[in-house]
Amino acid sequence: MEVAEEWPEPIVRVQTLADAEAVPERYIKPPSERPNLNPGTALAPSETGSLPVVDLAGLSGGAAERRATMLAVSGACRDWGFFQVVNHGVSTELMEGMREVWREFFRLPMAEKQAYANSPKTFEGYGSRLGVKKGAILDWGDYFFLQLSPHSIRNYDKWPVLPASLSRAMTEAYGEELEKLCGVIKKVLSASLGLDEGFLHRAFGEAGACLRVNYYPKCPQPDLTLGLSPHSDPGGMTVLLTDHHVKGLQVRKGDDWITVEPIPGALIVNIGDQIQVLTNATYKSVEHRVVVNAATERLSVAFFFNPNDDLPIQPAAELVTPGEPPLYKRLTFKEYKLLMRMLGPAGKSHIGLVKSN
Ligand code: OGA
Ligand code: NI
Repeated sequence: MEVAEEWPEPIVRVQTLADAEAVPERYIKPPSERPNLNPGTALAPSETGSLPVVDLAGLSGGAAERRATMLAVSGACRDWGFFQVVNHGVSTELMEGMREVWREFFRLPMAEKQAYANSPKTFEGYGSRLGVKKGAILDWGDYFFLQLSPHSIRNYDKWPVLPASLSRAMTEAYGEELEKLCGVIKKVLSASLGLDEGFLHRAFGEAGACLRVNYYPKCPQPDLTLGLSPHSDPGGMTVLLTDHHVKGLQVRKGDDWITVEPIPGALIVNIGDQIQVLTNATYKSVEHRVVVNAATERLSVAFFFNPNDDLPIQPAAELVTPGEPPLYKRLTFKEYKLLMRMLGPAGKSHIGLVKSN
């Protein structure tokens, strides 16, 4: 598969459409894919629900508390593929600061933002679509994407220096705290699988990390479109900082889409496709999507924590038995992520392409 050099069509910033009277055709989903924002129609109404909450303070308690924390993690990963963490160690000031500086970025005059326009080659910079399929129906969102780790691929030319030099230091500090948190979660996930603590650390090798700041402008007809189409995250795990005041994230639970109620101060963690492969589907990545609304914009900051680009990822020997043969082929993350980059968000179809038979 070749990386596309350019977008197949001229890029339109969704932000410039926020005050339109109607959603342009390019963003209108077929009826079966539209969110059901009006309960009482034929489709099952989306519920609102609390994701399981994991209190990481439990890790520094006694043996019983540690065990209860592991059980909570294992239950959440099996039942939801998602959980919210509290007492995660990331400072409130940094979380609020990130929301603030990145909101300011999206408020800059368009010409200043355009200086950071991205291409499908690396996706780094200011973007308005995922996937390079010509004529694809697009999502109601703009974003800013940055590589953070390994440091050798950090490219400060792609980082905005505006609105304030603060934004760079803030994003760096946030990235460092999030890497620390992911180090803890890696251990917890490994132990919660009944494996030794270092299992995911070894499997990931020198990890990669990147950041996508998602900006969902308000939308004149939110029932016709989505901020982000159903997808599972291709990488290892994701930690999401959401807008506390504006809901939008929905997680698939059976046939329903559950609207996440963010807990102030919490971060949302979810399992990505690489952990599904490594655990031979003991833990699965779960589909999620974003709905938009007519009243207000929404900002979220997704921190993607991934295996090293060049290490082969395959079901771990510890989790493969004669009764449970390996479900997936061996592939590097570099090879795998091309699927997302070419095809865009497409439910859980990407992992289906790497099934072993
Ligand atoms: C993502 C994602 C959810 C959100 O960036 O992969 O699922 O609420 N974001 O923005
Ligand atoms: Ni996602």
